[in-house]
Amino acid sequence: MDTTHARRWDGLVVNARLATLADDTGYGAIEDGALAWQDGLITYAGPASGLTAAPDALACEVVDAGGHWITPGLVDCHTHLVFGGDRAGEFERRLQGASYEDIARAGGGIVSTVRATRAADEGALFAQSLPRARALMADGVTTVEIKSGYGLDLDGERRMLRVARRIGRELGVQVRTTFLGAHALPPEYAGRADAYIDAVCEWLPRLHGEGLVDAVDAFCERIGFDAAQTRRVFEAARTLGLPVKLHADQLSDGDGAALVAEFGGLSADHVEHTSIDGVRAMARAGTVAVLLPGAFHVLRETRLPPLDAFREHGVSMAVATDCNPGTSPLQSLRLAMSLACTHFRLTPEEALRGATVHGAGALGLPDRGRLQAGLRADFVLWDIGQPAELAYWLGGGLRIGSWSGGRRLPD
Ligand code: NIG
Ligand code: FE
Repeated sequence: MDTTHARRWDGLVVNARLATLADDTGYGAIEDGALAWQDGLITYAGPASGLTAAPDALACEVVDAGGHWITPGLVDCHTHLVFGGDRAGEFERRLQGASYEDIARAGGGIVSTVRATRAADEGALFAQSLPRARALMADGVTTVEIKSGYGLDLDGERRMLRVARRIGRELGVQVRTTFLGAHALPPEYAGRADAYIDAVCEWLPRLHGEGLVDAVDAFCERIGFDAAQTRRVFEAARTLGLPVKLHADQLSDGDGAALVAEFGGLSADHVEHTSIDGVRAMARAGTVAVLLPGAFHVLRETRLPPLDAFREHGVSMAVATDCNPGTSPLQSLRLAMSLACTHFRLTPEEALRGATVHGAGALGLPDRGRLQAGLRADFVLWDIGQPAELAYWLGGGLRIGSWSGGRRLPD
């Protein structure tokens, strides 16, 4: 450890148990641990015995963790949390037997949220979306991806992305925005899907020029867009140097995983119906599989993603909430971890890795997701006796506090 630095660290947590996730397997547990940071980055994550002076001499602010556990800040790499209205009525219809696809084809589903989102001005959209972001943060999220996709016109998509960015500014959570113009066909383009994709490809450079887009996504599915249309969106993204990800193979195998991998995509998301060839393509491209057990649970799906093939081929698995009003009204990433264990048989360690380091990978953010010197000082202090409890408890207030870039987030 370097004690010759000119100034003291900004902060130091002592008396902590660390789940560093520093290696590729195991929690990377350190029982009597210490975590220090300066200028927003971790400067030390290791045993307290490695500290060479009294804590007060080393850091301006010293926090006693009381023996509690610290993990990396949770990264929710797939959400649609900005939207107007809700779809509780659709939930009731599905429970009476209607399928998600039936409802979508009858003009409900995503398009009904589009109506409510278009009707909300920026202030209303912000006010409706803020509690969902707060709920995610209350359960440990420090980085969240938020997609557009319920505006489906230039103004609506822009409003959603602006609201997403504003949530980041006001709450201190790190927000990454994804343009999902190709989410569904808006009613004014009925029967003209290719013309709609033309429009999406025109909006993208404009929204990117306004600094609102970090990545590009599409819904490649029977009730979404086909592979050729998705490809056109991806080509527009590539022209701008923007990374791509995809709602892939959720309800049927549309070769979505292979398509997004072909574009060197960050992630293929859902992937319940992905074939072994898709898995191989993802492995070659380093594309992360984003598991969304909330949607699987709510839609009462039975087809599991090819989990063993992902493990066998070394495809990283992230876990995210998919927080959205239709298929996954889920506002806790810890609960998503729990569902991933119960439905997909992930181990609690895989689930934690999926909600931290692999979630970060799915966003192209190698600067976070582990407790390691040089990475962002994003971490959470939890009232638990062992890390598996994060996936074990369904609900409950386990979080004591969160830090983002070394700053404690308001409770
Ligand atoms: O990830 N599949 C497409 N998009 C969302 C659902 C959005 C909605 O139903 O409003 C998903 O499941
Ligand atoms: Fe989604």
